[in-house]
Amino acid sequence: MTTEVLRTENLSRSFGGVQAVAGVSLTLHAGAVTALVGPNGAGKTTTFNLITGNLRADSGTAAIRGKPIMGLKPWQVARLGVARSFQDLRLFTHMTVRENVLAATETASWFWQPGGSTARRAREARADAALEATGLSALARARAIDLAYAERKFLSMARILAAEADIWLLDEPASGLDLASRTRFGQLLKDAQARGVAICLIEHNLDVVVELSNRIAFLDQGKVLAEGDPDAILKDPALAAIYFGDRPQEAA
Ligand SMILES: Nc1ncnc2c1ncn2[C@@H]1O[C@H](COP(=O)(O)OP(=O)(O)OP(=O)(O)O)[C@@H](O)[C@H]1O
Ligand SMILES: [Mg+2]
Repeated sequence: MTTEVLRTENLSRSFGGVQAVAGVSLTLHAGAVTALVGPNGAGKTTTFNLITGNLRADSGTAAIRGKPIMGLKPWQVARLGVARSFQDLRLFTHMTVRENVLAATETASWFWQPGGSTARRAREARADAALEATGLSALARARAIDLAYAERKFLSMARILAAEADIWLLDEPASGLDLASRTRFGQLLKDAQARGVAICLIEHNLDVVVELSNRIAFLDQGKVLAEGDPDAILKDPALAAIYFGDRPQEAA
């Protein structure tokens, strides 16, 4: 339950004069859901981008099971067992639903793909199982661009499932979902958690956070202000004031 699989230490990144991430230290554990919570612009997505190699850090380190990952390319981080979703989903909009999921099963770069029809069939079986689990089987041949909003969110989750990664970084996967869809999404997370997946969930809806997470890391202006038990953090009036935009005036 407490096996640490991912750790960042003092990750920092600025864009011009904006310090987007300012020394973020975070740990993810197998079979646990850590919610990354904080107001708009707090640095949540940038933190993911630094971990996954989509952006270079100015300073700080990150490691997966003790192996340093700073400087690796996104596909190299993916090969170490990290699957991520994007706030803007980034589906292959003109490919079919099934093709989108199959693409997520590719475990090697283009020049070397473990070959043969057996491997191909295994990848197809993984893709089909992911479609089944996300309720998208009947839409397998539809183009991603023709899906409804919630279906696109689940397609993004099907891609995560099919990747068979044991670390999931999910950027607002439940935003805008209706209650029934949110319940289905919650079940996907609980099943993954039971299999020992370490999950980091960026989520603005605090009801979802309370229901699904074991820990919260509260981020504001690029810094982790608090980390720990969800109930305690959400009851903290100072954090609530920051979260709901009622920030105390800073001394001039
Ligand atoms: N590529 C970029 N170039 C310039 N500034 C950026 C870039 N990416 C992020 N920022 C800035 O860094 C800060 C943190 O952004 P980030 O997207 O990480 O926030 P967030 O916590 O994910 O917010 P939200 O909840 O709105 O998604 C913001 O001020 C944002 O404008
Ligand atoms: Mg974001």
